[in-house]
Amino acid sequence: MTERFTLNVNGKQHTVEADPDMPLLYALRNDIGLNNPHFGCGLAQCGACTVHLDGQPIRACITPMSAVGSGKVVTLAGLGTADNTHPLQTAYVEEQVPQCGYCINGWIMTAAAFLETKKKPTEADIKQALEGLKCRCGTHMAILRAVKRAAAAMG
Ligand code: FES
Ligand code: FES
Repeated sequence: MTERFTLNVNGKQHTVEADPDMPLLYALRNDIGLNNPHFGCGLAQCGACTVHLDGQPIRACITPMSAVGSGKVVTLAGLGTADNTHPLQTAYVEEQVPQCGYCINGWIMTAAAFLETKKKPTEADIKQALEGLKCRCGTHMAILRAVKRAAAAMG
């Protein structure tokens, strides 16, 4: 049986009719049209679907609609704009990180939440924070450079 949910996504309210067990990822992509969070594994193993819920990175592929409540959801599209990019978005461009780009949503969203909690992280801190994310193109070293660059920019 479906229910009506009101989601706060990137500062806007969206009404979605869905089964309470439906993953948040499906609502974001199929109902709201936000395609930055990607479906990778669907099993919380890769991170491609990561969004923020009240500032915490979550895997939207395994987060049921019923668990979102009135929480504030932020996707990559809500992190910065073309005119006012997040330091991570700027750094990813400057370091020319992506190859296929499929995984990048997860790395940026996870790193963005991490950098809000940790100023001046060490390389070991960054590696630990990004554990559990997968990139099949092997851009890990470029990602590390970009996160370091963003961390320096964020002071
Ligand atoms: S698609 Fe969600 S963790 Fe892989
Ligand atoms: S850039 Fe292709 S999977 Fe990471």
